[in-house]
Amino acid sequence: MTNRVALIAGNWKMNLDHQQAIALVQKLAWSLKDAGHDYSTAEVVVFPPFTDIRSVQNLIDADKFELGLGAQDLSKFDNGAYTGEVSGAFLSKLAVDYVLVGHSERRTYHNEDDVTIQAKTAAAFRHGLVPVICVGETLEELESQGAAAVPIRQTIAALAGHEALGDFVIAYEPVWAIGTGKVATPEEAASVCGKIRAAIAEEHGAEIADKTRILYGGSVKAANVAGFLRSPEVDGVLVGGASLDADEFSGIARFQKHLAL
Ligand code: PGA
Repeated sequence: MTNRVALIAGNWKMNLDHQQAIALVQKLAWSLKDAGHDYSTAEVVVFPPFTDIRSVQNLIDADKFELGLGAQDLSKFDNGAYTGEVSGAFLSKLAVDYVLVGHSERRTYHNEDDVTIQAKTAAAFRHGLVPVICVGETLEELESQGAAAVPIRQTIAALAGHEALGDFVIAYEPVWAIGTGKVATPEEAASVCGKIRAAIAEEHGAEIADKTRILYGGSVKAANVAGFLRSPEVDGVLVGGASLDADEFSGIARFQKHLAL
């Protein structure tokens, strides 16, 4: 870790309706409060499905929870005849702070390519949302090209061609580690995150590279989070399955207590 504030992001994927969402967020906020969580050292953000966002936002507002709010996707368009799409403008009106862009499940099941992901990144910037740009290699790509080549190419493509770069986050998620229980070693994760940062510095300058948070994701749990965050190259984690359990996710957010061990 460095002076970049850690980001602990919970991607719920297509789980939990709005009532279940309220119960989970309440439990999470109370669990973090009981533990005396210091949000200034580790920001905690939930990424519920679209249908939950309004309810979660109301709850965060009414109870003054310090949790951040994210969405799992956005349209590359701002409005119009795009049935089923959700505009970044609507998300920012709901006080959404972050939006996942290019998650590997979007790349795989919805054929999102680098061009689409660049356009969605642009839409996030237009609407004042911080894109969490997800990158990572498949097992085949790992075997043929090594770990860093694909995530670097995807990062550079998502960040190319913007008039100005707003704040963004990169989440390095090896596809072979997502939802599989197979985890990259902390050394592997740190090495790829470091190479991504070096590539950002080369393309966009050291200042942008230094302030950008680069997360690791893929089968992160309370029991293994500290290993990743011990490295100064890894600024947080993107958590899928384990973010659906309030106690487990709260344990991940409190990774600092494991660092001392
Ligand atoms: P997982 O998912 O933690 O369940 O592996 C991570 C992700 O897809 O963001």
